Amino acid sequence: MARRKKVYEGKAKILYEGPEPGTLVQYFKDDATAFNAEKKDVIEGKGVLNNRLSEFFMNGLNAVGVPTHFLKRLNMREQLIRSCEIIPLEVIVRNVAAGTMSKRLGIPEGERLPRPIIEFCLKDDNLGDPLVAEEHIIAFGWASQQDLDDMIALALRVNDFMCGVMYGVGIRLVDFKIEIGRVWEGDFQRLVIADEISPDSCRLWDIETNEKLDKDVFRRDLGSLTDAYTEVARRLGVMPANSAPLGKPTLVN
Ligand code: TYD
Repeated sequence: MARRKKVYEGKAKILYEGPEPGTLVQYFKDDATAFNAEKKDVIEGKGVLNNRLSEFFMNGLNAVGVPTHFLKRLNMREQLIRSCEIIPLEVIVRNVAAGTMSKRLGIPEGERLPRPIIEFCLKDDNLGDPLVAEEHIIAFGWASQQDLDDMIALALRVNDFMCGVMYGVGIRLVDFKIEIGRVWEGDFQRLVIADEISPDSCRLWDIETNEKLDKDVFRRDLGSLTDAYTEVARRLGVMPANSAPLGKPTLVN
């Protein structure tokens, strides 16, 4: 039997060649990493949850006219995506101070920001994904001014969508990270939301209790990560209450 070709392996996902040109298969692993991979573990069921949650958010974005790379979910751990050229920047949107913003600027965690704030980090593990200024991005050619304007507009639309969806199920969207890619249609370039949108790359706090329902549970050893992600999925109606236990997915191929 022919073995499919692995195109890329990252910390939480693997990309394989897709069935048609211009497509890829994105496989969600159970590996969890934090602090630039200094903290590592395998958390059974995490990949299944992130695959389902990312499908839910990407489908929702596509439906409201925010273009994404997502085509369809294939099985418990895999989804078909459009291949795109990833812009080497992590785009972070913050609504409430937390994490590195609180550390860097001394703003207490949990303080609501006067407006959504967008930050860019250079995707470079060797450098620890440093925060960069728009000046750096343009000067070093990581993205053009037009790309930057489009990325900011896209990030704010994703933020509005995600804040609304989360608010509806009693969750505060504190911050999140997205990656953006370029796809070519003839001579024209279009930007799309790529990678994944899941509790691995968001901060999600219960509106009433401030309980953390995101990767900080792993980063800060606050309990079971799969319980937290399952709670998010359950509230969003993504995992039916009577679905099979997540630790033992049966449809993986
Ligand atoms: P940030 O507070 O800058 O960093 P950290 O998570 O290390 O405290 O992160 C802001 C949000 O962006 C948070 O929800 C996590 C997400 N994020 C990632 O998913 N990957 C990354 O490489 C970075 C820098 C942030």
